[in-house]
Amino acid sequence: MQFPTELIARLQKAERVTALTGAGVSQESGLRTFRDSQTGLWAQYRPEDLATPEAFLRNPKLVWDWYAERRQRADTVQPNAGHYALAEMGRRFPKFTLITQNVDGLHQRAGSKDVIELHGNILRVKCFDCGRPAETWAESAPEVPRCAVCGGLLRPDVVWFGEALPRLALETAVEAARTCQFFFSIGTSGLVQPAASLAFAARNRGAVIVEINLEPTPLTERADYFLQGKSGEILPELARTLWPESKRL
Ligand code: OAD
Repeated sequence: MQFPTELIARLQKAERVTALTGAGVSQESGLRTFRDSQTGLWAQYRPEDLATPEAFLRNPKLVWDWYAERRQRADTVQPNAGHYALAEMGRRFPKFTLITQNVDGLHQRAGSKDVIELHGNILRVKCFDCGRPAETWAESAPEVPRCAVCGGLLRPDVVWFGEALPRLALETAVEAARTCQFFFSIGTSGLVQPAASLAFAARNRGAVIVEINLEPTPLTERADYFLQGKSGEILPELARTLWPESKRL
């Protein structure tokens, strides 16, 4: 991809850069996105059957098993070149904040530090009743495992529909959006709030908006640069253009 010359020149001088990622960033690692009309998770399952507290109370085993399968999958796939390029951006920009809606832990495995996880992490498990994190659990027991402390049912430590986002994570994300010079929106459909509003918060404070996606989203017409294509290809290309000497890309 030929990047606009002025984008590269401005990025080379940028100090405060924030990026928000979504399921598209992990797609090239072999994890499904949510809203792809053919293969997306929400094309096959209804969120209200699997991703709400009510669904869990109605049928805990169904919900537990669905997340257990996704957890296992997240554990077996590998970060892709897009994740590694974002980790390099974290080492290169003086202040780089990575915010993700993904729950798969792949950014951290690629070396990104201080990742803000807006929707939790599927690799962690906590008690539905008392909220304490669980250290160990039987993944495929016939019954949903229970909390060692209070006996409540264990659940994935992710944010379900109707639940609040982790407060500190959201506050830090909003602050990083409001104070950055560049905001990247990568591999997200921009349809889920409040994550979707971060790009607009950044734009209102004068940040340059760069979007990377396979297809246009509600953000695209407000973005300063729309780089259309796979994040696993565009991000490393961009990083190599910015830092040709890097050995990690
Ligand atoms: P979506 O499935 O809604 O959107 C994925 C986006 O990635 C789409 O816009 C695709 O065009 C784009 N995409 C797919 N493959 C790509 C690739 N290789 N490179 C670049 N872009 C690509 O996923 P999210 O926006 O992450 O929330 O969804 C947001 C939230 O909705 C999720 O965190 C989840 C879901 O319900 C909860 O579970 C709370």
